[in-house]
Amino acid sequence: FMKFIIFNWKSYLNFKESTSLAKFLAKMKFDKRFKPIVAPSNISLGHLNKTFKNLLFSAQNFDLYGKGGFTSYTSINDIKDQNIKFAIIGHSEVRQYSGENDYIVSQKLKIALSSKITPIICVGEDLLTYKKNKTKSHIKKQLNIIFDKKLKYDEVLIAYEPLWAIGSGLVPTNDEVLKIADFIKLFLKDYTFKKLKILYGGSVNSDNLEMLSKIKNLDGFLVGSASIKKSFINNFKL
Ligand code: 13P
Repeated sequence: FMKFIIFNWKSYLNFKESTSLAKFLAKMKFDKRFKPIVAPSNISLGHLNKTFKNLLFSAQNFDLYGKGGFTSYTSINDIKDQNIKFAIIGHSEVRQYSGENDYIVSQKLKIALSSKITPIICVGEDLLTYKKNKTKSHIKKQLNIIFDKKLKYDEVLIAYEPLWAIGSGLVPTNDEVLKIADFIKLFLKDYTFKKLKILYGGSVNSDNLEMLSKIKNLDGFLVGSASIKKSFINNFKL
């Protein structure tokens, strides 16, 4: 049973720092139980993907528009051309700072599907929703908008990232994560996927990794700030 470990470097590292950390990853012998994927900044992505052939890379985002007169955007065309295999869609920070919503996520998912890029879709509730015990109905609403029963999906990764757990040091209990992961799988059972994987993200670090790894049937983790630390990366060493 292999777990995806996605290193979301966000905007933490510049080109030089990303290159040096990717070099560290490329030289490391990974425990075979883990499948590492690196999501560097856009400006580093192409270079790293070309330089470190033994690593897998993901874009942090792409736009709806594709090829054309769209200054400052990231076309899926560019990602595809460089043979990048994964792309994060609907990360909470993109939702927060760039107004991404589930309708846009749904469209981007279709673009990824037609471009043969494996999407890493982020869903999750805010603190108030969590406190009101409305997490399931929130996730259900998101999945309803994002996925289409009439479509046939290839491999899709869904990251359950509670907004209140991102960058806060707070994590849900194992039981809470398990319940939501099971809920997502149950909700999507009538949809067609070649492979559907559920990951957890939000304040995963060296201190809680061992505990979170006990969650049954979870397919991996999406890691932010800890993912730039060698001490954290060493957890996946053979
Ligand atoms: P942190 O691990 O920094 O909480 O971020 C989680 C996240 O947003 C990963 O995509």
